[in-house]
Amino acid sequence: MILVIQAHPYPDRSRANRALGRAIHDLDGLEIRSLYDLYPDFSIDVGAEQRALERATTVVWQHPIYWYTAPALLKLWFEKVLTPGWAYGPGGTALVGKRCLWVATAGGDESSYREGGMHGQPFEAFVPVIRQTAAFCGMRWLEPLVVDGAHRIDEAELSGLGERYRERLRELVAEEGRGEGGGDA
Ligand SMILES: Cc1cc2nc3c(=O)[nH]c(=O)nc-3n(C[C@H](O)[C@H](O)[C@H](O)COP(=O)(O)O)c2cc1C
Repeated sequence: MILVIQAHPYPDRSRANRALGRAIHDLDGLEIRSLYDLYPDFSIDVGAEQRALERATTVVWQHPIYWYTAPALLKLWFEKVLTPGWAYGPGGTALVGKRCLWVATAGGDESSYREGGMHGQPFEAFVPVIRQTAAFCGMRWLEPLVVDGAHRIDEAELSGLGERYRERLRELVAEEGRGEGGGDA
């Protein structure tokens, strides 16, 4: 099973994440958990989240980039759900070997993500924190899907990216069906 954790605080104002979500919502083999729908009061059910993770072979984190990282509720989800003795540290092996796919949308485009540009660094400079969060829990990092310039992207391009996302998840589901997903789920 592929667990898709979505975190968008303003879904009614979203274009990019909404289009990505629409592209995958009816795929078989997925469990989609939309954090801001489940926990509008930020009161995360840690047991429910950990059980969902235990069912998964692949975990997707899908969100817009806010202040160079994940939106607050996903950040809180990391803090609350990825507990010592479960996700890391002695006995903390629940996520070992599971695959992690990061799907992020950024308002800035390539010209703003460079030395001297609006964001000062290439986008890759902001990836290690989230990649290491996965690695710290023993997860296997897959090639991320990053949509940059999300403000200006047109509908045709957006639907192409949605197709790419759908295809990527379909391949991962197929690999899991063939027992190639790894992990212990
Ligand atoms: C509070 C806030 C912080 C943001 N921080 C960043 C940022 O650090 N880098 C960036 O490229 N875009 C940033 N953006 C733009 C969002 O990433 C962009 O609006 C979003 O990815 C578009 O996806 P959506 O249509 O699903 O909302 C920010 C937007 C908001 C509202």
